[in-house]
Amino acid sequence: MNLFFEASTRTKTSFELAGKYLGADVINFQSRGSSVEKGETLYDTALNIEAMAVDLLVVRHPASGVPEQLSRYLNIPVVNAGDGFHEHPTQGLLDLMTVWEAKQRLDRLHVVIVGDILHSRVARSDLWGFQTMGAEVTLVAPPIWMPDWIGSSDIHFTANLAEVLASADVIQVLRIQKERRSMHGMPSEQEYRTRWGITREVAEQLRPDALILHPGPQNRGVEIDSEVMARTATRVLDQVENGVAVRMAVLEQLLGGHDG
Ligand code: CP
Repeated sequence: MNLFFEASTRTKTSFELAGKYLGADVINFQSRGSSVEKGETLYDTALNIEAMAVDLLVVRHPASGVPEQLSRYLNIPVVNAGDGFHEHPTQGLLDLMTVWEAKQRLDRLHVVIVGDILHSRVARSDLWGFQTMGAEVTLVAPPIWMPDWIGSSDIHFTANLAEVLASADVIQVLRIQKERRSMHGMPSEQEYRTRWGITREVAEQLRPDALILHPGPQNRGVEIDSEVMARTATRVLDQVENGVAVRMAVLEQLLGGHDG
């Protein structure tokens, strides 16, 4: 069962397709119209769903840690489909797969992640995923969107996009989260585009074989221009396609009865 408490196009649809391709019956739980609207807690909602003999839950929630909490209460697998500012593990895996398909390796690649690092669960899953596989990761963000903990880590970070373009093998462009617009001191869309947006001029400073990724949905004309979206180096739809395969693998691993 897909249990999504936040909007989604790619993740929800691809988990649904992944389950169906593997022969599962997939149900999409909609919190709107459910007893959540009458005040039923997430805990009770999940217990009741488990009592109906659902085999696995895929959970997206605006609060960090919800899938992990649910996994403590329930006896069925819980897959994190994105929790708050924390993680988006299957997005990380599909990004690794997309780069691996194109480069046939992940180690020693220079991966640049640019955007709202502070609020991005994709940034965290990509950072840890690419580092685990031996890539070098640089985080690029306006200072207000760079988390405090970066300063005490050994992770490369900068506010200056121009200084990392020539050495990037991959640039992952994060969505500007308009829902965070109320943050004091955040750059305007125009300022963001000028200093951190991937325009044609910026894309031309990348190496010819550098890949451009974006987890979606895109704000065209803000963090990435339509001209860049149309380039062959831009692998956004490969990411989406690979999302189905990665989610099939995750479901198969958890429900398919294989050892290890
Ligand atoms: N990349 C991603 O998580 O997209 P959705 O929010 O549409 O699922």
